[in-house]
Amino acid sequence: MKILVVGASGTMGKAVVDELKQRHEVVTASRTSGDYKVDHGDLQSIRTLFEQVGKVDAVVSTAGNVSFGALLEMTPEQYQVGLSSKLMGQVFLALEAAKHLNPGGSVTLVAGTLSKDPIRFGASASLVNSAIEGFVRAAAIEFPPGTRINVVSPTVLRESMDAYGPYFRGSEGVPAKRVALAFSKSVEGAQTGQVYFVE
Ligand SMILES: NC(=O)c1ccc[n+]([C@@H]2O[C@H](COP(=O)([O-])OP(=O)(O)OC[C@H]3O[C@@H](n4cnc5c(N)ncnc54)[C@H](OP(=O)(O)O)[C@@H]3O)[C@@H](O)[C@H]2O)c1
Repeated sequence: MKILVVGASGTMGKAVVDELKQRHEVVTASRTSGDYKVDHGDLQSIRTLFEQVGKVDAVVSTAGNVSFGALLEMTPEQYQVGLSSKLMGQVFLALEAAKHLNPGGSVTLVAGTLSKDPIRFGASASLVNSAIEGFVRAAAIEFPPGTRINVVSPTVLRESMDAYGPYFRGSEGVPAKRVALAFSKSVEGAQTGQVYFVE
């Protein structure tokens, strides 16, 4: 398969690329590094990306920012980060990807278990992750016949515990390598409309 990974240079993205490149041709993208440059918060940038990459068998996203902060102190701008980047960036990526999938192709997005396992300072992330999961469940119904869409929803990565550990007391974190297997299941499996929780 030819697989486009957006967010390939990140902590999760690197593990996903390592898993998929063992069996597939992987092309990488992000705002600042990889085979192609894209800002998925900008629809024109996504369209340009697909003009350059052409048809693919799978599109994987491990990209998207979201702000953390106290519920009542977060500014509208801070809430907007998650909505514009992680939520709508991935939604627009999925919609454009749907037009550039080979028969049998798939899209896999990333959310996070804060959708169902909230923490202090995580309201925006919970909001965005729940929305992504809801979008994927619904989008699968109308995705082009023969194509699929799923989302991987992991808890905090073991590799990110230095930065996020204090917010996730009680969690030992999950190795990025194990999260990468959920992306592999989505890309190489046959299911659609699924949320793969990795905890
Ligand atoms: N780390 C965790 O513990 C964890 C747990 C659950 C869910 N998640 C979610 O998983 C995703 C990846 O997390 P991570 O820790 O791997 O993040 P990361 O290390 O910061 O990597 C993010 C990747 O996405 C790219 N990116 C960011 N904004 C982009 C944009 N607008 N357009 C295109 N590419 C963009 C970055 O590259 P450039 O900067 O070059 O664009 C980078 O390759 C995030 O959405 C995060 O919320 C993370």
